[in-house]
Amino acid sequence: MATIYIETHGCQMNEADSQYIARRAQSAGYALCEKAEDASVLVLNTCTVRDNAERRAYGRIGSWKKLKAADPAVKVVVAGCLAEQDKERMGDIAPHIDGIFGPKDLAKLGDALVAWRSEFTDDDLTEDRALLVAMDNAGSGVSGPYDRLRAYVNVQRGCSYYCTYCIVPHVRGRFDHRAIGEIIAEVERKVAAGAREVTLVGQTVNAYKEPASGADFADLLATIAALPGVERLAFITSHPNDFNEKLARAFGSIPNLNPRFHLPVQSASNPVLRKMNRKYTIEQYREKIALFRQFAPDWALTTDIIVAFPSETEDDFQTTLALCEDGMFAQAYMFVYSQRRGTPAAHWEPISNAIGQERLMRLAAVVDRGVRAFHDRKIGTTVRALIHGPSRKDQAMLSAKTLDNVTVVFPTIEDPSAPRIDEPWVDVQIDSAAVWGLRGSAVRRAARFNDPGYAVQAIPQTLDLVSLAR
Ligand code: SAH
Ligand code: SF4
Ligand code: F3S
Repeated sequence: MATIYIETHGCQMNEADSQYIARRAQSAGYALCEKAEDASVLVLNTCTVRDNAERRAYGRIGSWKKLKAADPAVKVVVAGCLAEQDKERMGDIAPHIDGIFGPKDLAKLGDALVAWRSEFTDDDLTEDRALLVAMDNAGSGVSGPYDRLRAYVNVQRGCSYYCTYCIVPHVRGRFDHRAIGEIIAEVERKVAAGAREVTLVGQTVNAYKEPASGADFADLLATIAALPGVERLAFITSHPNDFNEKLARAFGSIPNLNPRFHLPVQSASNPVLRKMNRKYTIEQYREKIALFRQFAPDWALTTDIIVAFPSETEDDFQTTLALCEDGMFAQAYMFVYSQRRGTPAAHWEPISNAIGQERLMRLAAVVDRGVRAFHDRKIGTTVRALIHGPSRKDQAMLSAKTLDNVTVVFPTIEDPSAPRIDEPWVDVQIDSAAVWGLRGSAVRRAARFNDPGYAVQAIPQTLDLVSLAR
């Protein structure tokens, strides 16, 4: 039987692309599998935003060499941003690769899957399996049963902002905004296939402008939120420059928008922001936040920060620390600056890695205090969350995400072998908090976000007699 394993690194743009690959594969007759070892075709959807992303991808590609050696019929495919960046040399670095497809070549990857399909036989396709494939064809998930609950839909490709550190415009190209009609059609298809939460993705989603109608991102949000079956709507990621009052008002008036706004600041020092080509000052950033708070007082604000950007002094860094000390961020993703080939900043004198690491640690300590305080405020409340699946650390626990994107784990309320994705909403009473998220217990479960739900209890753990007898 033809099976495909898709592993996604990087951002939500890659998630969306992986969902496209999965759909093309399924309609070509492949079944999705959850382990690389089980696959006829292995796809690695890569990221190259920082050096460690690049190294991780090459590590994974290397580790698949033995699968190809064990069964030469297996195809190894590299997709995504690293594929674009290294398309000239990747074949020399890793000769066991059968195909290299950058983000602009996704349709070609789909065609290759169709062409390869006949190389894999179907001898073992039992009736049960045929049924499974047929049902899976309706899905848009990538592999796990819960994945289809969340749909990632690209609204634009590329980015035209050329921040001086960033590889994205070089590997994904300039802005290319999709037509609203296409976006609506994709959302409708994914909702019909079971999606409950739709995330509109782009590197600067809020710069969206439909070429034909001139519709902007606030118009797009209102249109998508009103589509039947879109229970929750989210979006990521936004640029401060394109945040305006119209969008702030949309946040305050669209009821099914998830209350979370990711607005990367990168640094709080004006000289550093200028050198990064971010196109705003920290005063302007703060004004945007004040506008946002006026219309969305209860939303979570999250951000991205780069430390040790070339020329960043201790004083510059202190300014960023001070911004975070305000506790304004419910979460901040922090990175040590990483040189990317072909970007302007790669020519500038780098700051030593030791200083970078040290700044990262100091910043993380401050950010984590704010994150913890944000989580602590949820203790004692009951939150409605969308199930993500069994907790990776403990199969007896389920993991879910709150509307403002906090992980919450609780003792399971279903048999792990029979997930009930038709009732994906759960009300969790929060007992304790940590920096990584929340712990609690499930009290209700619901089929629809707006349903009151019905009472549930955790399934008590049965004793594992087999391992006790050992
Ligand atoms: N388009 C988004 C972010 C894209 S990349 C934006 O502009 O906000 C995600 C994050 O990775 C960035 O916000 C930035 O904080 C970080 N990043 C990007 N390039 C980097 C580099 N060369 N070194 C370190 N961090 C980087
Ligand atoms: Fe990169 Fe800047 Fe574009 Fe974000 S806005 S993707 S950081 S160039
Ligand atoms: Fe990485 Fe490409 Fe996204 S470089 S962050 S996967 S756009």
